[in-house]
Amino acid sequence: MAQALLFKTHDSPMEKMPGHWLLACMGKRVLRPGGRELTQRLLASLAIDSTDDVVEFAPGLGETARETLARHPLSYTAIERDPEAARTVTQILSGPDQRCALGTAEQTGLADGSASIVYGEAMLSMQLPAAKARIVAEAVRLLRPGGRYGIHELCLLPDDVPGKIREAIANDLSDEINVGVRPLTSMEWRQLLESAGLVVTAVETAPMHLLEPRRLLRDEGLFHAIRFIFSVVRHQAARRRVLTMRRVFRKYKQHLAAVAIVAVKPPTHV
Ligand SMILES: C[S@@+](CC[C@H](N)C(=O)[O-])C[C@H]1O[C@@H](n2cnc3c(N)ncnc32)[C@H](O)[C@@H]1O
Repeated sequence: MAQALLFKTHDSPMEKMPGHWLLACMGKRVLRPGGRELTQRLLASLAIDSTDDVVEFAPGLGETARETLARHPLSYTAIERDPEAARTVTQILSGPDQRCALGTAEQTGLADGSASIVYGEAMLSMQLPAAKARIVAEAVRLLRPGGRYGIHELCLLPDDVPGKIREAIANDLSDEINVGVRPLTSMEWRQLLESAGLVVTAVETAPMHLLEPRRLLRDEGLFHAIRFIFSVVRHQAARRRVLTMRRVFRKYKQHLAAVAIVAVKPPTHV
């Protein structure tokens, strides 16, 4: 269903479509670098329960939204900038305390202190530095003191990765994924959150195996993994791009990973 909707609206040619939508059109549901497992670890650190007002930035197809809703938060609000993705997420929501608004995480329009938890996955890496900082500042504005912010993003290894490699990775990923991908090192992600006044409480990492067979099976399950493989095999242009994406991920496997970080807004945030 979500796949069909994306096909209809993201009708840019397969060669030009942003990589995450290409994968989604082929039936891939998990679009984050650390897969379902790192999401589980992120959600465990966020410890969402029935007292929480949760805001999710960029829910995409709503896969993590389902996990969050299964924890029965007091309220759930998603902010997604893609109209079709926002419509897809809306379909899994119910009741007045669950909604998905079309908009940008940089400026959500939500009230100060309206959330006890904010999180976003695989969405900061694709922003320019100034936009990254604006999104983190928006998360901090939404959080009440003591509230938690969680991110799950692509990260560069090691913390002192040479500038040349950083540049080559950004160029290759942007060329192949067709969105400007600008990952940071784990230390830089931490610093981004700390410079907004947050206190980091958990850092988890996982290999960047988004398109590796074992991860595919674990993330999608046997049925969906087979369906994804068949779709990719059937569409020549998609096949070419998926294989190229995987080649780039493999080329830089020593320098790419996934990181999930949780940070708390201190009671006396300045
Ligand atoms: C790679 S997908 C990840 C989707 C989902 N978080 C997941 O992990 O499966 C990136 C998503 O971020 C959304 N997005 C990117 N920048 C955004 C922004 N500034 N505000 C809201 N959504 C944004 C895109 O529309 C897309 O749905």
